[in-house]
Amino acid sequence: MHRRLIAPGALAASLLLAIPASAADFSPGAPGIGDPYYPASGNGGYDVSHYDLRLKYQPVTDLLEGTATINARTTQNLSRFNLDFGLKVSEVRVNGKKAKFAKTGDQELEITPAAGLAKGTPVTVVVRYAGKPSELKIDGYTAWHRTPDGGVAAQEPEGAVWWFPSNDHPLDKATYDVSVSVPDGTQAISNGVLQSQSSRLGWTRFNWRSNKPQASYLTTLAVGKFDITTDKTEGGLPVLNAYSKDLGDNAGAARASLERTTEVAEWLETVFGKYPFNALGGYVPNVKTSYALETQTRPFYSPSAFANGSNASIVVHELAHQWYGDSVSVHHWKDIWVNEGFARYSQWLWSEKEGEGTAQELADYVYAQRSADDPFWTVKPGDPGPDKQFHIAVYDRGALALQALRNEIGDDAFFAVLKGWPQQYKYGNAKVGDFVKYAERISGKPLADLFDTWLYQPSRPDAPAARDAGF
Ligand code: ARG
Ligand code: ZN
Repeated sequence: MHRRLIAPGALAASLLLAIPASAADFSPGAPGIGDPYYPASGNGGYDVSHYDLRLKYQPVTDLLEGTATINARTTQNLSRFNLDFGLKVSEVRVNGKKAKFAKTGDQELEITPAAGLAKGTPVTVVVRYAGKPSELKIDGYTAWHRTPDGGVAAQEPEGAVWWFPSNDHPLDKATYDVSVSVPDGTQAISNGVLQSQSSRLGWTRFNWRSNKPQASYLTTLAVGKFDITTDKTEGGLPVLNAYSKDLGDNAGAARASLERTTEVAEWLETVFGKYPFNALGGYVPNVKTSYALETQTRPFYSPSAFANGSNASIVVHELAHQWYGDSVSVHHWKDIWVNEGFARYSQWLWSEKEGEGTAQELADYVYAQRSADDPFWTVKPGDPGPDKQFHIAVYDRGALALQALRNEIGDDAFFAVLKGWPQQYKYGNAKVGDFVKYAERISGKPLADLFDTWLYQPSRPDAPAARDAGF
């Protein structure tokens, strides 16, 4: 028998903690959320609404320490549950009471509360921890990139376990307060709006808030010495870009690229509809990596992206992900095409607008570069497999699929689909199949064959010829 919550407030909350139930009614939450590519990612039995991270980081030693407070709601009667996390934990409390915990494997934290947690009730988990993220190796790899003056967490599909405990899968998005204290003269950059910063006893604390649902891998932290520029868009959104003071010859080109963030976002709004978040910007730490990541509201860019001069196209790619990837997220990781195919196609549209080649011309070029026996064509963008999740084919063949769609349904329907989709699935999750159905509905055409050819066949399709060619 479960007591129902009849009155709000502290009294009702304390009654909930005292629900009597036999142990048999309660079972452990699954150690994974059910993603076939990454069985250990995420967990079952609860849904997180908010993360509050209160941390301190010392660049000299790489020591990260602090407390994560997680607001969640149970989705089953739980005897215990997991968080995904790799650093050393010293204490866990569940609804105020000390809980038992154990590390199982590299990245699972198994938590057993003093009493079972009834389905559908709010639960607050406090995890106190400390560790050196660069020392956490999973399959020999660390996603924490140490720099001469700090460190950076920005990786896909998984970066959170190196710095905070979470339900580490895009299916469970939440809002975030990230508060990080660093030595004076150093900055801590994260997502959303910088609510405040203040200094005492030689340490400066930065308080960041991201107030729309956000996937754990899109939550970022960068500590280092940065030059920061701030602005507001005409619509009132705060814009904040951060550049490592140590970008060397790439500094000018980095700034010439990121300072176009507002312009790019305004153009993307004409294609995808209203920007979905509370802040804009980007950051360039002095890392040696060569990728970029669409960390929510504030993408991460590697300095190498600017080695050949300004690169507005990469800004277009990462900002396009704010709609396609961040607001609308993959359901399972095999749906990665709904992120990368569209972010790549946005770059083609930008080129079209800038007069540097139309999307059709770029599609023809990319297609011609790949002979029929190029292994490129064996990768299925609709289900590439975990080891090929970020293969170039997911991007380029993924964008070719969109050019084929555009040619099949015409510009009016195509752009209606591009703009309607982020509205239809705003702040949610979607599968490749959902997109196929959506495009069929908006265009009124059967499209299963077209998408099967472009997303699921391990061979080269016929070229996505322009509509009027050959008719
Ligand atoms: N989503 C990122 C992008 O827009 C891909 C990051 C892949 N990670 C990596 N280490 N390559 O390009
Ligand atoms: Zn991308």
